[in-house]
Amino acid sequence: MDQQPVVVAPQTSHTTTTNHYRAFGLLAELTYRCPLHCPYCSNPLQVAQKQSELTTNEWLRVIQEASELGILHILFSGGEPLLRRDIVQLVASAQQTGMYTNLITSGLGFTRHRAQELKAAGLDSVQISFQADQAELADLIAGARAHQRKLAAARLARELGFPLTLNVVLHRENIERLSEIIALAEELDAQRLELANTQFLGWAFQNKEVLLPTRQQVTDAHHTATAAQLRLRGKMEVLYILPDYYGERPKPCLFGWGQRFLTVNPMGNVLPCQTAGEIPTIQFDNIREHSLPWIWEHSSAFKLFRGTAWMPEPCRSCPHKETDFGGCRCQAFLITGDPAQTDPTCDLSPHHLQLTQMVEQLQQSATRHFTPENARKIRFRTDPISSRD
Ligand code: SF4
Ligand code: FES
Repeated sequence: MDQQPVVVAPQTSHTTTTNHYRAFGLLAELTYRCPLHCPYCSNPLQVAQKQSELTTNEWLRVIQEASELGILHILFSGGEPLLRRDIVQLVASAQQTGMYTNLITSGLGFTRHRAQELKAAGLDSVQISFQADQAELADLIAGARAHQRKLAAARLARELGFPLTLNVVLHRENIERLSEIIALAEELDAQRLELANTQFLGWAFQNKEVLLPTRQQVTDAHHTATAAQLRLRGKMEVLYILPDYYGERPKPCLFGWGQRFLTVNPMGNVLPCQTAGEIPTIQFDNIREHSLPWIWEHSSAFKLFRGTAWMPEPCRSCPHKETDFGGCRCQAFLITGDPAQTDPTCDLSPHHLQLTQMVEQLQQSATRHFTPENARKIRFRTDPISSRD
C-alpha cells in the first residue's frame, strides 16, 4: 500500500461493545508482497515472508469476527491484495456479512477476468493508486513500469460500473503536476480523487530528504486543489490532505488510537494503525491467539492511547484534546522516540521546535529530483515480494 488510507469520519457514536469505543472500519492488509517500490510506502521496513501470511481460513474468520464486532467498512489492501488468489473469496465473504467492501490496489493484476470475478462477488468500490499523470515520471516513482497498466485498470473499473477512487500521494517530485493529475482523474471518470500529501511514516520517513515538498509548493497545491473542489462539486469529490509538517495542529490520526479503526496485518497482528508495528516498545496481539472482538476490548496495545487519560501536558489541559486526540502516536515516536508525547506537529508541543528545525534542515539539503545521481539517497523497497501465491 502507498500510504495510510484516507478514512471518512464515521457518523455514528453508539456502542456495541462494552468499552464505549465502536469499531467502524477494518484495514485488511492481506500481504506485504507488491510489484511496486514506492519510496513512501507505509509497509514496515522489514516485510514478512509469504509463508507467515494468514491462510484463507484465518482471514475468513477475521471477516466473520469483524462483522460480529460491528465493523461496517472493510478495506482490502496490502502490499498488493490482488497477489492473493483468495481475494475474490474474501470479498464475497465480507459482502455476505453486509460490510461495505473496498479494494485498494496498484491496479496491477486487475485483469478483466479478475475484475469480473470481483464484481460478481459484490465488491463495492475500487481505489487505484497513481504516482503521477505522466508515464515516465510515474514509473520512476513506482520503481516499475506500471502507469499504462494502471490506466487500463482504471478504465476497466469504470467499464464494469465500479465507483472509482484515484489516490495520489503528493511529494516534491509530483506536486507541481497537480492540475494535470486532476485532469487525469476527470478523464478516467473517477468519482473521488484523494490528493494526500506524504505522511512521513515508514519508508517515507526514511526518504523525507527527497520527498518533502517546499512550503511554496504546498501553498500552490492547496490553491489548485481548492479551485478543483469548487469546479468539480457534484461531479467528482476532491479530497486534499494537508501535510502535517507544515501545519500548526495535528490531524486526529484515524480519529484516535483504537477508537474507530483497526488494522490486521498479513501475519495476523492487530494494530490501531498500519504503522504502529514499527514502535518496538508495544506488543500487539495476534488473531491466531485471540478473537478480534477480544483484542478490540482487551488488548493492552489498544488501551495504551485510547481516549484522553494517557495524555501528557500540554494535551491534558488543551481544549482540542477531544478533537485531535493529541495527533499521531507513530509520528510522535519517530520524531521524539516516545509514542506517548504530544505529536510534534502541534505548535504547542515542547518538541515542535525540533520538528521545525528538522524541516528547515531538510529544505536546505533538499535533493530536488529523483535523478539517477540522487537515486542513492532514496531507499526503495527491494524485497523480492511480487510473486503471486
Ligand atoms: Fe492537540 Fe495536544 Fe496540540 Fe492540544 S496540545 S492541539 S490536544 S496535540
Ligand atoms: Fe500510527 Fe498515526 S499512523 S497513530
